[in-house]
Amino acid sequence: MRKKIIAGNWKMNKTPNEALALCQSLKEQVNSQEVDVVFCVPFVDLYPVLEAVKGSSIAVGAQNMFYEDSGAFTGEISPAMLTEMGVKYVIIGHSERRQYFAETDETVNKKLKKALEHGLIPIMCCGETLEQREQGITIEFVRMQIKAGLQGISKEKAEGIIIAYEPIWAIGTGKTATAQQAQEVCQAIRQVLEELFGADTAQKMRIQYGGSVNEKNAAELFAMPDIDGGLVGGASLKPEFAQIVQYK
Ligand code: 13P
Repeated sequence: MRKKIIAGNWKMNKTPNEALALCQSLKEQVNSQEVDVVFCVPFVDLYPVLEAVKGSSIAVGAQNMFYEDSGAFTGEISPAMLTEMGVKYVIIGHSERRQYFAETDETVNKKLKKALEHGLIPIMCCGETLEQREQGITIEFVRMQIKAGLQGISKEKAEGIIIAYEPIWAIGTGKTATAQQAQEVCQAIRQVLEELFGADTAQKMRIQYGGSVNEKNAAELFAMPDIDGGLVGGASLKPEFAQIVQYK
């Protein structure tokens, strides 16, 4: 049985003081033993959020990192900077980074390898555009993203990776994929994982759904056999996040 993982992606929201206030308001209710809860916060919020969640089971994640250990890369953050602080997770290849910051399957793959080398748990994002869905190439496209992103990763390392399926048309639009649509793609993702790493590993890997997850649709989505939790944007900044964590 895979443990569900529910992560909030705060995106570019909350100053350090606002982050503290949000942690204080959510901490008690999302401190769950049943599911893994992660707050993926802006870099400058990492320190205050790590302090604020101390003593709880909430883990902290970053939303990006660079694929080199150190050096002349102005403005970038290295994996060691994250691990030294106590950060456990890192989102890699979010569609917003692919869209606005020229992230490609190749950089995703490099970042993934570097994150694993440093013991960070990557949450690797994939997902199709509306145009691709309408063309009927969703599965083909997502399969390709998964294969390219996971190229050269060993079976042993793969086990710890989390995949987030986030259809771009469902992000921030209030238009959630139906549970069946989400399941169909998550099942296809597990199929690729099986082709790459074998059935045992594929069964152990967790696949999240993301895209307008809220307290109303979470239970139905998370009940699907291949959906192991969610990557939540907008609703992770609200009190409703507690209801998503307690989705049953
Ligand atoms: P929303 O939940 O706001 O649609 O965002 C989803 C997302 O992009 C999470 O990474």
